Amino acid sequence: MDTNQAQLFARLQELRKQIQYHNYRYYVLNEPVISDYEYDQLYAELVKIEREHPEWITPDSPTQRVGGVVAEKFEKVQHPVPILSLSNAFSKEEVLEWFERIAKLDERVRNADFIVEPKIDGLTVVLHYHEGVFVQGATRGDGSVGEDVTANLRTIKALPLRIPISPLSRVKAPRSLVVRGEVFITIKDFEELNRRLEERGEKTYLNPRNTASGSLRQLDPRVTAMRPLTLLTYDIVQTDDDPPKTQSELLERLYDLGFPVVESRYCANLDEVFEAYEEYLRRRDELGYEADGIVIKINDLSLFEQLGVVGKDPRGAIAFKYPAREVSTRLLDIGVNVGRTGVLTPYAILSPVEIGGVIVKQATLHNFDFIAEKDIRIGDVVMVKRAGDVIPYVIGPIVDLRDGDEQVFVPPTRCPVCDQPVEHIEGEVAWYCVNAACPAQVVRNLEHFVSRSAMDIVGVGVNLVEQFVQAGLVNDAADLYRLRKEDLLRLEGFAEKKAENVLQAIANSKNRPLARLIVGLGIRGVGEVVANELARQFKSMDSLMSATVEQLQSIEGIGPNTAQAIVDWFRQPRNQELLEKLRAVGVWPVEGGGPSEKAKSIFAGMTFVVTGTLQRFTREQVKEFIERHGGKVTDSVSKRTNFVIVGENPGSKLAKAQALGVPILDEAKFLEMAEGEDALINSSH
Ligand code: IVH
Repeated sequence: MDTNQAQLFARLQELRKQIQYHNYRYYVLNEPVISDYEYDQLYAELVKIEREHPEWITPDSPTQRVGGVVAEKFEKVQHPVPILSLSNAFSKEEVLEWFERIAKLDERVRNADFIVEPKIDGLTVVLHYHEGVFVQGATRGDGSVGEDVTANLRTIKALPLRIPISPLSRVKAPRSLVVRGEVFITIKDFEELNRRLEERGEKTYLNPRNTASGSLRQLDPRVTAMRPLTLLTYDIVQTDDDPPKTQSELLERLYDLGFPVVESRYCANLDEVFEAYEEYLRRRDELGYEADGIVIKINDLSLFEQLGVVGKDPRGAIAFKYPAREVSTRLLDIGVNVGRTGVLTPYAILSPVEIGGVIVKQATLHNFDFIAEKDIRIGDVVMVKRAGDVIPYVIGPIVDLRDGDEQVFVPPTRCPVCDQPVEHIEGEVAWYCVNAACPAQVVRNLEHFVSRSAMDIVGVGVNLVEQFVQAGLVNDAADLYRLRKEDLLRLEGFAEKKAENVLQAIANSKNRPLARLIVGLGIRGVGEVVANELARQFKSMDSLMSATVEQLQSIEGIGPNTAQAIVDWFRQPRNQELLEKLRAVGVWPVEGGGPSEKAKSIFAGMTFVVTGTLQRFTREQVKEFIERHGGKVTDSVSKRTNFVIVGENPGSKLAKAQALGVPILDEAKFLEMAEGEDALINSSH
């Protein structure tokens, strides 16, 4: 290595350390010390060096979280020691009984102290580190043999790929370490995920735990990477260092190594345990994730060991469960909400019932298929669950309690808000109101129009949009551009300066490229990638407006549903009116429009190889498309190739890719990926 190379290599190592540290600040401590932008810069610099020197890439590099191959099945993993479960207590009395039982076995229990932790409602994972590097991760399975989900676990940003996380650590990683933790999804992330799915007319998930479990057991790690999984650890299963003496020392050691660690409370005796229980129960919703109880653990780990195991449960710990948050109540009626994209979502109107201290009157019914599948009828007594702060949801009917008066629910054929006919799309679960003038949709559409991925009107958010609509100043996106200073000054909270800033921000957005305006229209199925393609192909709103279904469908990546949705959208008189108004106020970009910043990074740091003839692109075009989105196209397949795109009559590159286990995409999959989650391949947080 010459001096330059050595310097570059040193820089690479420095970047990895820094990125690792900032990941830790962000995902583990929730206290970032740099902006996303600065983080992205560091990440991009690392990607660049690794691209120039693929031989320097190591599995613990922060760029290597999502990679790998689609598995056919999960390999089995023998756990080093049995991965135990916990016995449950449902009352103070049962906890006291447990205490007496073990105190009789060992008198030291009477003076024992305890650690209390929330019982996270997720999935146990067993994480193996060798020389500080994460080498394997498994599910619990039956407690002695689990499944190898290493590739999926690597995608979880809270999981350290290398320990300790420098430069913080006071401790060194043992040569070999096995850690136990829980993988789960926070309530906020769960709801955000469902909101996105709902907008796209896709099936939503029923609860955070099922989502986490389904996501961790995906055979394709790229799918797992799109799900907001996170991790907390609480046990050292095996270490070749001196084992910790107490549970508090154990948790501290995990923390020092850089693991995300479950919160805990030290309790000097059982009375303090009961106090801790009351407090955790009170603050149950503040945790941010679902906890179904607390775990009480004897702090002294040698005593814990000596107490032994009954069946699969250690005697030295017990789960003290919270009261269930599932209750039965009568389903009085089924209401229907209308979202931004016009998706109709059914919700249950319930006979009010208390669940965990909160009066619940409504609960989600997910979608119309769910109602049919569960055969939920109006008048049924249904089970309802409220977990954490998740929107309460109906689990299903109690069929035995039917008296024959229950009514089968018939989904509406007209929008409950604007009374226009609703539409169903083959293959989707959702029903839509396609009338953009539907009042329920106006505010949400405007919110979308001003958002960052669309016209990016800085400083105009949900609240202002609502204020404008309520004041009758704005009914559609074009009205924003007609706002006058005197209009704004009449609104609450507006002074001279603010009014000027808002008007300036709106005026600035007039120059956004065509693609952004297309995104802003909020046509179903048209996200940033499709919008970029439409802008590129049609070059102006005028020609896009007159596109036929056939023309649109001939564009790869646009299926019959999206093509039809686009044509339908332009056919709606209300939308035509909106476009005329936009033209009149000068929001009418014509040029192709560059890709948005986000779209640019979709393939950031990824290397593609193309083989065979593609239908949609020439070789030059596909190269240009990938590069425009931050990726790179090379000629030969190597281990460093992220994806091989295969067209008709592929050459030997396909066989090579298969031999090396490089993921293979056909053209449709490739476009789907381009259109899919930015989070998948995005370098940013
Ligand atoms: S300790 C010997 N601590 O609850 C160690 N488990 O019902 C036994 N769980 O399978 C487990 N949070 O998946 C422990 N703070 C916590 C936990 C926890 C959640 C889960 C774990 C276990 C299940 C037992």
